[in-house]
Amino acid sequence: MWNTSSVQSFKAKMRLSLARPSRGGSCRAFSVRPASRARLVCLQGYTVLGKLQSTEGVSMNGQEYLDLLKARYSVRSFSDVQLTDAELDVLLQAAQLSPTAKNSQPFRLCVVQSAEGLAKIDEATRCRYGAPTVIIGAYDAGVSAKGLGYETGDFGDIDTSIVLTNIANAAAAENLGSCWVGAYDSAIIRKNFNIPNNYVLVDLMMVGHSAEDAEPSPRHEQTEPLDTLVVRETF
Ligand SMILES: Cc1cc2nc3c(=O)[nH]c(=O)nc-3n(C[C@H](O)[C@H](O)[C@H](O)COP(=O)(O)O)c2cc1C
Repeated sequence: MWNTSSVQSFKAKMRLSLARPSRGGSCRAFSVRPASRARLVCLQGYTVLGKLQSTEGVSMNGQEYLDLLKARYSVRSFSDVQLTDAELDVLLQAAQLSPTAKNSQPFRLCVVQSAEGLAKIDEATRCRYGAPTVIIGAYDAGVSAKGLGYETGDFGDIDTSIVLTNIANAAAAENLGSCWVGAYDSAIIRKNFNIPNNYVLVDLMMVGHSAEDAEPSPRHEQTEPLDTLVVRETF
């Protein structure tokens, strides 16, 4: 597991490789009711100034990346300390840097942080675990890539799952906790956050600082052996 100094060192490295976002650009995220104080993410408004063209210059090695993945676990008890703007920026840039099929970028994220917005999340799920930030992940089915041999026909789910995975891993790098949540009433989320009909809701991501009593569930350690998960050359 990571100790505090290795996490700090990793955060410093991440900050070197990610430029701060600039303002401007058009907003393609879905809208929420004006009455809602849920924070709307305008992903197109973030410009990644220092996007790496290759792995040249990446100072993190494979073992350090594995250490980061080991540091992530599903946090089910959060403190009420909110993310800083800089921490949230890292998560959103991790989303923006994610690959998508045909570079279609169909995902749309809604960041919910207000008391009113979090109460609307709580109407739909019991799995917020006190997280002060919830990211709703959805994709525009009119924008996502179709076909291309994918058996279920739409790459939007894959694209949005990659985005949410990168957010969870970036959260771990920022020494934050996260938890995927698929157990929610989608009709309530749709209604409470004005999700348009052409958007497919993928999952909710809880983010925040782990509470002192937070600990990984026993399932966290229950990984199948690689011999089971991976075959060579043919199934
Ligand atoms: C798509 C998806 C949906 C999930 N939904 C929930 C959920 O609704 N509630 C919850 O507490 N955990 C949820 N989890 C977390 C898993 O239970 C957890 O990732 C798994 O048990 C492995 O544990 P770990 O994340 O601590 O390594 C979900 C995870 C994924 C990937």
